Amino acid sequence: MSTAIYMGMMSGTSMDAVDAVLVTFPTDHSVQLLASISRPWPDDLRQSLLDLCHPGEQELYRLARLDGDCGDFFAATAAALMQEYGVRGDAIAAIGSHGQTIRHEPGIGHSLQIGDPNRIAEVCACPVVADFRRRDLAAGGQGAPLVPAFHAALLRQAGIDRCVLNLGGMANITWLDGRPERAVSGYDTGPGNVLIDTWMQERHHLPYDPQGRHAAAGHIDGDMLQLLLQHPYFAQSAPKSVGRETFHLNFIEQTLTRLTRRPDDNDILRTLTRLTAVSVADCISAHGEHGELILCGGGVHNLTLQADLGELLPGFKLSDSDAYGIPAQWMEAMAFAWLARARLERQPGNLAAVTGARGGRCLGALYAP
Ligand SMILES: Nc1ncnc2c1ncn2[C@@H]1O[C@H](COP(=O)(O)OP(=O)(O)O)[C@@H](O)[C@H]1O
Ligand SMILES: [Mg+2]
Repeated sequence: MSTAIYMGMMSGTSMDAVDAVLVTFPTDHSVQLLASISRPWPDDLRQSLLDLCHPGEQELYRLARLDGDCGDFFAATAAALMQEYGVRGDAIAAIGSHGQTIRHEPGIGHSLQIGDPNRIAEVCACPVVADFRRRDLAAGGQGAPLVPAFHAALLRQAGIDRCVLNLGGMANITWLDGRPERAVSGYDTGPGNVLIDTWMQERHHLPYDPQGRHAAAGHIDGDMLQLLLQHPYFAQSAPKSVGRETFHLNFIEQTLTRLTRRPDDNDILRTLTRLTAVSVADCISAHGEHGELILCGGGVHNLTLQADLGELLPGFKLSDSDAYGIPAQWMEAMAFAWLARARLERQPGNLAAVTGARGGRCLGALYAP
């Protein structure tokens, strides 16, 4: 029984908010949530982050500035959570801070997360672990996804095939085979919410499609869907991972120009929603036809997407991860608390079978309190 307190902090490709949790790991296979907070990125910071995801002028200068500004925001978020829970830095074993990804290009061995961990250590006065991905890349891996080891530790069950589906900006699956001798599989299936969000922002000036309602008012355009599915990422075999570099507004616009008739806005949104569902379901079906599908990430709120998944995967029982004791919103932040603990204990954080690295590696750099 361990009562050491860890914090995990995450902001994913959606760039919606910094999510932070305080947890303990009573056993190697359980987690207890003590407190949580989610703080939306301020508009100006978020816009600067989005701008930095694509090549542009004065990149190095903007990168340096944003690394500090994001570090301050992560630090303030962590401090707010500590204050809320009434805990001081000396009572926290470590904070695992994922940072904000601004480039993910595993093909050239590179993935960059910013949000200066020194600033978090300075404000919170506890050890901070950050830069989780690059050791795996150095060992020939994708540097992603890193959550499958956590999913396996917490949710694997002999005799039941389980699949964890994280619907963030990108979507990633972890296949936990009911046969214990089988290795864990996990990879990014492609877009999660990112194209839906991009289209909502572009056409409706809203950050996302609330509950999937706009999509529900549209119809799937079969021709558009077929063209979208021709993107080479979907045919690539694992290990694979992907980011905003690949799935963005231009991908949608270019697909639309190849159609003889442009669908209306809601039909486009409906089709983008279906794209996420089909690309996810194709990957899951390749592992098995039956099992439990455990959903997490903000996409659990998109009811149109959930209905599509249920229709495309009739052999699976769908539930939010809440039903398994892990709130869907906090799964990823919890995973980075778990990865911070793995770092302190000098245990591997990656799964080589997932990332394609040459072996298990202890992930992350440690910043002293
Ligand atoms: N009420 C909602 N209805 C539909 N989608 C939602 C809702 N709330 C959140 N989302 C989606 O979830 C996303 C955030 O999910 P999150 O798991 O934080 O992703 P990431 O890890 O990429 O940051 C939002 O960008 C949005 O697409
Ligand atoms: Mg998020």
